[in-house]
Amino acid sequence: MGQRRAAITALGTHVPERVVTNADLEKIVDTSDEWIRTRTGIERRHVVEPGTPTSVIAALAAEDALARRGMAADELELIIVATVTPDMLFPATACLVQERVGARRAWGFDVSAACSGFLYALTAGAQFVQAGTHRKVMVIGADVMTSILDFQDRSTCVLFGDAAGAVILEPREDGSGVLDFSHEVDGSGARYLNMPAGGSLRPATHETVDERLHYIKQQGQHVFKYAVRKFAEASEQLLLRNDLTGTDVDLFVAHQANIRIIEAAQHRMGLPEAKVVKNIHEYGNTTAATIPLALATALTQKRLRAGDTVLLAAVGAGFTVGALLLRWSGVPWS
Ligand code: ACO
Repeated sequence: MGQRRAAITALGTHVPERVVTNADLEKIVDTSDEWIRTRTGIERRHVVEPGTPTSVIAALAAEDALARRGMAADELELIIVATVTPDMLFPATACLVQERVGARRAWGFDVSAACSGFLYALTAGAQFVQAGTHRKVMVIGADVMTSILDFQDRSTCVLFGDAAGAVILEPREDGSGVLDFSHEVDGSGARYLNMPAGGSLRPATHETVDERLHYIKQQGQHVFKYAVRKFAEASEQLLLRNDLTGTDVDLFVAHQANIRIIEAAQHRMGLPEAKVVKNIHEYGNTTAATIPLALATALTQKRLRAGDTVLLAAVGAGFTVGALLLRWSGVPWS
């Protein structure tokens, strides 16, 4: 018997049908398709119908994963939801998803780590499986970014989209599963990317609404520089301590925030195009959902096979940083 590891045994996604193109945004703010494409790689993003909360798209992704695995919702023991757009500050979105999907035996909680949220949740979920206390864990990354976007701020509203992705973690002793992970936090980054009001620091008042403080605020260049440095640093360090180099990686699945950030990390690790997943042109930055969506893209493009060494990486508000190495176990996909 090999070592017990937490393996991804199913993947599900939900991408809203409604599409907003760069040309659509040209009609709302002073921007251009050319600026957005060349600075970010984004061509369009999918958005929910107004009023659709995160728990709804999270539950749809979870149900997709359960159906593909042929697993009943009441077999789940734990649900972890990564999101920065919870339906409400409390209760946790995990509770709302538990009820929606009918996972009556599961407990759950939310993880707030912005763009690194899915990796943090995946790491957390994997610990329960590896420890042997849980056998069926659902990890979801879901965000309705349009609920916190200021469509008067061209520097942020062009960057994001809405989506959800979910994976099921189960124990495997065949060498597949999560091999290693590394996370960092740098709280000094909080001032560069945040949503200033609505929390205990600045509860909602007429003034906070008038000042548009319930929306994302970002100093893009500072975040960009940090992300470029940390994507590569976190990835390289994780490879190094596992005696691996870029050559050993079969697939690099990075958080999709900006094509230039992904390509900087790609070049630093010397990865050829065939080993890097890029789907930002279609979805924009969907925050906690980008990594499961990128895994889905890789599966659809038949670029991910059982036994592959996969490197996941993300940087997000906080700042939060994550890199995770796994041996792909194979999931039902068609
Ligand atoms: N359309 C047209 N012009 C714009 C737009 C827009 N949508 N947004 C900004 N500009 C203008 C600015 O006003 C500025 O004009 P100025 O020179 O006259 O002052 C000019 O474009 C350059 O602005 P910069 O902010 O310097 O542009 P930059 O090349 O840094 O690109 C961007 C901005 C795309 C936001 C980039 O900084 C970035 O991707 N940062 C990472 C942020 C990110 O992805 N955060 C998400 C969460 S964290 C994460 O996922 C890593």
